[in-house]
Amino acid sequence: MRILGIESSCDETSAAVVSGTASAPILESLVILSQDVHRIFGGVVPEIASREHLTAIIPVTRRALAEAECTFADIDAIAVTHAPGLVGALLVGVSYAKALAESLGKPVIGVHHMEGHLFATALAHPNATPPFTALLVSGGHTLLMDVEAWGRYRLLGATRDDAAGEAFDKTAKLLGLPYPGGRHIEALALQGDPSRFRFTRPMLNSGQRLGDDDYFDVSFSGLKTAVLHAVRASDDLDRDRAHIARAFQEALIDTLTAKTLRAARAHGRTRIVLGGGVACNRSLVTAMQGTADPIGGTVFAPPPRLATDNAAMIAAAGLFRYDQGQRDDASLHAHSSLPIPGLIAADG
Ligand code: KG4
Ligand code: ZN
Repeated sequence: MRILGIESSCDETSAAVVSGTASAPILESLVILSQDVHRIFGGVVPEIASREHLTAIIPVTRRALAEAECTFADIDAIAVTHAPGLVGALLVGVSYAKALAESLGKPVIGVHHMEGHLFATALAHPNATPPFTALLVSGGHTLLMDVEAWGRYRLLGATRDDAAGEAFDKTAKLLGLPYPGGRHIEALALQGDPSRFRFTRPMLNSGQRLGDDDYFDVSFSGLKTAVLHAVRASDDLDRDRAHIARAFQEALIDTLTAKTLRAARAHGRTRIVLGGGVACNRSLVTAMQGTADPIGGTVFAPPPRLATDNAAMIAAAGLFRYDQGQRDDASLHAHSSLPIPGLIAADG
């Protein structure tokens, strides 16, 4: 079984070939073209993203096939991200995948982008398989889930406002750092003195109990405001910038690790799988492992190329959905938001 994956939900045009089975996927090739143009604007401009996908998608796909040393004839199915994301960007990938499927006489499989992120880590770590606690932290989403099995997901918590990556990007902007700011904050925080500033851990207090609606949820907009006040109050931002970055990152990491530990404990999980661009942050991964040690837990983080948006994770999730019998057709659509498939009741 060999699947071609296509991803175009935001500002990465990506194609990949994955073979094997859903439980033992083999990554044959992965090509990611990041649209650097958005840096000038300090954020993703949807129409520009769509146009860039349109010019990139065919060469990126051809390159992925060439690197896997195969042709369209060797592909059994085409998996494509169809939700969630920027609709105009998604439409490019969905339309191309449907046209390919139609002309090749092969099935097309619509994949949910966040289910893709769940499968990404297993491509690099064969033991990152269910059951596990998942923390997906990207520019657009922050989801805490219990993954009982592939295709059986309990959504435990989410952000009430900004996503974790968005909080990094907005804080970076306040500190005068380039977009996207996550890796710049991480680098700067390493030089910061943790005793200089301290921000309240958002939505985290010891009085919260399982069943409370804020037990697993997170919120980062207040933290961003705290950073804004610290920046405004500083009489020497060049001196304080690294200290503020450090304090911001520590508050965010403490919140994410504490909530993830609660989720692992609530469901008796010892494997914790991280995903999304913020999972590139080594301070987060190290802190998460420290938090998991007392419960004998192991943290699996994807390598950076599989943490940020990529088509390998879409192909891997597509392999699973293909095994489940999913086949889409010309009616496959793009959706800016859609619940992840396979949701079961959080307390079920
Ligand atoms: O998953 P992703 O590539 O795209 C979305 O689906 O949103 O995540 C991008 C996000 C950006 O907000 C970026 O600042 C953040 O991931 N990010 C990081 C790091 N590298 C990327 N955040 C913190 N530390 C990093 N090292
Ligand atoms: Zn993503």
